[in-house]
Amino acid sequence: MRISTLLLGILVGCAGSEDSDVAIDGATVYDDNCVVCHGADGDQGTEVNGTAAADLNTAVPGLSDEELAAVITDGEGSMSAVAGVADNELDPLIEFLREKFPE
Ligand code: HEC
Repeated sequence: MRISTLLLGILVGCAGSEDSDVAIDGATVYDDNCVVCHGADGDQGTEVNGTAAADLNTAVPGLSDEELAAVITDGEGSMSAVAGVADNELDPLIEFLREKFPE
């Protein structure tokens, strides 16, 4: 009994420390940088220079990871590059976009 309790403690301890160190929450990155134009559900369509922000429900499935990264870091048409997304936030953000806006 004692030993199994100890092992469980070690496992839980490890999982906890890993999370707090490296995990970047893609949903938070989206909330901070994209919601203002695309909305929480991706279909807000805020106009920028007369162009509505793309509906991400249809736009995201049509783009590769590389294309998504390019849209975010370089901009696309009326959407300017999003400067607030750090390099290490890009992958978690794209992972979140894939989950939130699947095909
Ligand atoms: C200031 C408003 C604004 C913000 C902030 C913004 N976008 Fe956009 N986004 C737009 C507009 C406008 C378009 C349409 C561009 C066009 O077609 O000219 C667009 C288009 C897109 C597209 C479609 C591109 C394509 O090639 O079809 C994707 C994907 C996208 N945005 C993702 C994001 C993500 C992810 C973020 C956050 C990191 C973000 N956007 C932040 C306004 C914004």
